[in-house]
Amino acid sequence: MTKSPPVCDYEGSDYQTTFWDQGGRAYEDQAEAIALRRILPDSGHLLLELGAGAGRNTPRYAGYEQIVLLDYSRTQLAQARARLGDSARYIYVAADIYKIPFVDSLFDGATMIRALHHMADAPKALAQVRRVLAPGANFILEFANKLNLKAILRYWLRKQTWSPFTLEPVEFVALNFDFHPRAIRQWLVKLGFSIEKTLTVSHFRMGLLKRILPASLLAAMDGLVQPTGSLWQLTPSVFVKAIVAQVAQDNILRHNIIECFQCPECTTHPLTDRGDHLDCPGCGRRWAFRDGIYDFREPLA
Ligand SMILES: C[S@@+](CC[C@H](N)C(=O)[O-])C[C@H]1O[C@@H](n2cnc3c(N)ncnc32)[C@H](O)[C@@H]1O
Repeated sequence: MTKSPPVCDYEGSDYQTTFWDQGGRAYEDQAEAIALRRILPDSGHLLLELGAGAGRNTPRYAGYEQIVLLDYSRTQLAQARARLGDSARYIYVAADIYKIPFVDSLFDGATMIRALHHMADAPKALAQVRRVLAPGANFILEFANKLNLKAILRYWLRKQTWSPFTLEPVEFVALNFDFHPRAIRQWLVKLGFSIEKTLTVSHFRMGLLKRILPASLLAAMDGLVQPTGSLWQLTPSVFVKAIVAQVAQDNILRHNIIECFQCPECTTHPLTDRGDHLDCPGCGRRWAFRDGIYDFREPLA
């Protein structure tokens, strides 16, 4: 198989429960919901949710007709499926963002929330996203910002060795990266995106404030200052709306998603639907469809 950058593996992880449901992050969750409402287009056809996890954000993409939840972790997808159910609206795909198993220019929207964070080769991941987006498509990207106030203060007080001001990503824990906003902009522009909007999110991510003020109040205050992201970005989280900078065309295949898969290894398409798996006529690999998930992680033996 083609060698790919390492993956931060969430297989079997209780991330949704420990980080979100019981992790004291109601403020961050509500602040993200406000940012998404502000930055998402009102409607769309086919959305690719990259690193969808347990589908925490998926119900927020209500304007889209169909949503592909793509995640490397089968167990995260199983949790998403338990939350959202089986319908033509949701398609669950286990695959690596570095090898997205779809044809070029398919989607009119994509989101990537708290997932770039795990990309050791962010430009490579972003290039894959760009490949599957149609002209005129929207891409909502959230990234963890190394140029945040806390990191700047820590650096100035010599409590942190790495500089928040330099463009390279910082890996603060294995396979967890913070990025410089300018580096993200440069990568996106190089790939042919234009940046339409930038929101700063989680201005008040501080233990004391979170203890004394209700999450809903903090989130509402956050919502008020999120648009300052167009001027400067000093928060731990930043949302960017990028548009594929070409004239929109109505070339989106949205009726039969199976016809839109491509082999993640040899890029042949279409794949042949065999019910419980998909055959690749190019390289002969077989990709499972089991428990409602199209599985492109490893081929069947
Ligand atoms: C921090 S969680 C975020 C989940 C969700 N977006 C949210 O905000 O609740 C990161 C997700 O990215 C997925 N992920 C990490 N690396 C990936 C890769 N190379 N390909 C596909 N998914 C990946 C993980 O499995 C995990 O579910």
